[in-house]
Amino acid sequence: MSTTSLPSPDRAAELRTALLSAGFTADGLLDLLGAPAYAALARSETVPALRATRDTADSPLATLVRLFLLQQPVSSVRAEAALPVEAALADGWLRREQTTEGEDTVRATVDVRPYGGPDGEDWFIVSDLGCAVGGAGGIGSREEGVVLGVGGASTTLAGITVRIPVGSALDLGTGSGIQALHAAQHATRVTATDVNPRALDFTRLTLALSGAPEAELLAGSLFEPVGDATYDLIVSNPPFVISPGARLTYRDGGMGGDDLCRTLVREAGARLNPGGYAQFLGNWQHVEGEDWRDRLRSWVPRGCDAWIVQRDVQDVTQYAELWLRDAGDHRTDPAEYARRYEDWLDEFEARKTKAVGFGWITLRRTDAAEPSIVVEEWPHSVEQPLGETVLAHFARQDFLREHDDAALLAGYFALAEEVVQEQVGAPGAEDPEHVVLRQNRGMRRATKVDTVGAGFAGVCDGSLSAGRILDAIAQLMQEDPVVLRDRTPEAIRMLVEQGFLEPVAAPGR
Ligand SMILES: C[S@@+](CC[C@H](N)C(=O)[O-])C[C@H]1O[C@@H](n2cnc3c(N)ncnc32)[C@H](O)[C@@H]1O
Repeated sequence: MSTTSLPSPDRAAELRTALLSAGFTADGLLDLLGAPAYAALARSETVPALRATRDTADSPLATLVRLFLLQQPVSSVRAEAALPVEAALADGWLRREQTTEGEDTVRATVDVRPYGGPDGEDWFIVSDLGCAVGGAGGIGSREEGVVLGVGGASTTLAGITVRIPVGSALDLGTGSGIQALHAAQHATRVTATDVNPRALDFTRLTLALSGAPEAELLAGSLFEPVGDATYDLIVSNPPFVISPGARLTYRDGGMGGDDLCRTLVREAGARLNPGGYAQFLGNWQHVEGEDWRDRLRSWVPRGCDAWIVQRDVQDVTQYAELWLRDAGDHRTDPAEYARRYEDWLDEFEARKTKAVGFGWITLRRTDAAEPSIVVEEWPHSVEQPLGETVLAHFARQDFLREHDDAALLAGYFALAEEVVQEQVGAPGAEDPEHVVLRQNRGMRRATKVDTVGAGFAGVCDGSLSAGRILDAIAQLMQEDPVVLRDRTPEAIRMLVEQGFLEPVAAPGR
């Protein structure tokens, strides 16, 4: 594990002022670099940004980009124009270096990356140099305790997290502190934990440099450092990679197979306050002879509702290659690469694993007698942020649990906003083969419906009860209304569950 000492957060507020006044923000970067170089940087590709900042010695913003994002030495004179160099040296954000020509230069000791918050906040994520994202070339550092910055998984979790005001939030496996930083905006108290003590130091720096309140920082594995404490919100982007050995702390949990994710989910139930949410990213094994959905269902702790969405599945070869590349193993000796590849395949063979699923797990502590556990596959594009969608999912589950078929028929519903109908069939055919309802928001779901379902959804504007609408449809279609009332609640339930229909109050209520 690295022993490099990290900067002191004591004067982070002064540094923040300097960074902001130079325009070192997400928007400032975009303006300076242009969209392609900015996007390339997010893929860890630095060449376009190096070109864009090459002849910009008089721009403090370009100086900060070269120092903190591109790991370039910058002359002390040039650096002076961008930030308080002496203080930054004394606090450990910079170190001095002399070129072979005898020029005085400074270099950054950490990666500082502007990150725009959801309400336009100017935040900074501090991480190990050169590790701001996984990137095409691999992480570029083989140190076990390396702390990464913001990657796709980090922003995915931040996007799905429910953002309601809460008393207490726990970010387990905080890394650079991005989830703790988000949580600090809507939680009175934030606790961030990590098995890697360096990560806690980075989280402290991220919070301080972003102008966020301090968090409680605790070192240790999984829930061990928090004792019996319970929370209103728990989030974790854990080291979920299913790998043949614990090599990199940020991704290899060190427990066999998907045991780390299972343990995290199982133990979260007891750490949630009533009504509290726990949200995780995870990987899970697809084991021969076992339905992956049953595997996931068995993880859900007692007292919790769960919504589990599988977003992607990779066969074991794709999966092994992804993580070999992530570690930069494809750049090593081919024989070494082949040996490591074999290790991954041996591991999967021993665990009878044919594929690995990736997705989101949300728990909500309801203590309901009949918990709602939804495990589904939705690999299609979604509209982030999804925090509101997650809340709405659980609210609908509450509604469905409380309404039997008779109550559903007596209920009033409105078609959700931006739902459209698509008709699928042969060109020129009089009747469509089937009708699809599609949402343009949130999960962007699509579902096939029959003529009754499409007609029912189309009429739902909250003015008539479901039963009355069905009676009218029965009359139009010359069907027996009793039969229609009998067979339709299942379809209504599905349309409500998936968010196509929203329960509303009866008119005049
Ligand atoms: C994938 S990173 C996530 C970092 C950050 N929360 C994010 O969203 O970008 C996983 C983090 O979990 C930490 N970790 C690894 N094993 C752990 C364990 N057993 N208990 C707690 N944290 C652990 C790693 O050190 C790393 O910081």
